[in-house]
Amino acid sequence: MTMDYPHEPVLLREVVEALSIVPDGIYVDCTVGSGGHSEAIARELGPGGRLVCLDRDPDAVDISRERLNFLGQRLIIAQAGFAALVDFLQERGIEQVDGVLLDLGLSSYQLEKSGRGFSFLREEPLDMRMDPGLSKSAFDLVNTASMQELEKILKEYGEEKRARVIAKKLVRTREGRPIRTSLELAELVCAVSPVRRGRKVRHPATKTFQALRIAVNHELDQLASFLEKIPAVMREGGRLVIISYHSLEDRIVKQRMEKWEHPCTCPPDFPQCVCGNKPLFIRVGKRPFRPSSREIAMNPRARSASMRVAERVLQ
Ligand SMILES: C[S@@+](CC[C@H](N)C(=O)[O-])C[C@H]1O[C@@H](n2cnc3c(N)ncnc32)[C@H](O)[C@@H]1O
Repeated sequence: MTMDYPHEPVLLREVVEALSIVPDGIYVDCTVGSGGHSEAIARELGPGGRLVCLDRDPDAVDISRERLNFLGQRLIIAQAGFAALVDFLQERGIEQVDGVLLDLGLSSYQLEKSGRGFSFLREEPLDMRMDPGLSKSAFDLVNTASMQELEKILKEYGEEKRARVIAKKLVRTREGRPIRTSLELAELVCAVSPVRRGRKVRHPATKTFQALRIAVNHELDQLASFLEKIPAVMREGGRLVIISYHSLEDRIVKQRMEKWEHPCTCPPDFPQCVCGNKPLFIRVGKRPFRPSSREIAMNPRARSASMRVAERVLQ
């Protein structure tokens, strides 16, 4: 890992290859994080190429602005959610781009250094906002949402089988005192979870933390809204590359890419298409790309990564 930049980019070579970079093109890294992928993309660009970088987290923007400084005027970097990408580009007079990357989820910086309670192993205030400007933190959710709401969040966003038991424990506890820190939350989940032993067993609070983080940051809404708008700004032949780290996101991406490739809504027994829907993208590789066992050994964070790639086609 680079000393100065606390995030090891996942599938780095594969991302650069998948983007199929044209040196004079315009590329967008929607989740710049510590700038690892962006730096590799930037190295492929010629004097006419440009890189647009976004992140919801202002700390990520500060770290990456410094790292990508060598691009000079060829860099546009700002704090923004990727659901707003299309408006962001239009406001800057950019009509179309040649490639877009989304590397979803959390950065190592956020998990280990941000102090915002993303990790169940650290004693930090329960916050979990990637963008500190968001109105509700994990503290607000855990301490004010109804038991039904908490159960639904844990079930839908964490696929947590013990959602009801955990929600009940949280609500009972907060009747006496607010739940303030990440460790307090993790301990409450452990208290109502069966003891599991073994090296590969996941921490009982893994799913609870994932669920709350997704809810606090409206992560699935951001992704759905991005996917809805992105075809409009991609040039023919441009590649969209998306890395996800859990099945909920991966499913959304997979289904959308399939729909883009096969948009016809005619009944299967129609002799020919009458709906007129034409493909917007074709998938590059029908199966997701996964990190090698070597990469996973060097960077365990990569183990759940799934990269899907699609190329824009015009009717
Ligand atoms: C896995 S990290 C990206 C790491 C980056 N590729 C690198 O090489 O350092 C994910 C980043 O996406 C950001 N993020 C998550 N959801 C976002 C959204 N809706 N809009 C913009 N950034 C988002 C997070 O703040 C985090 O910095």
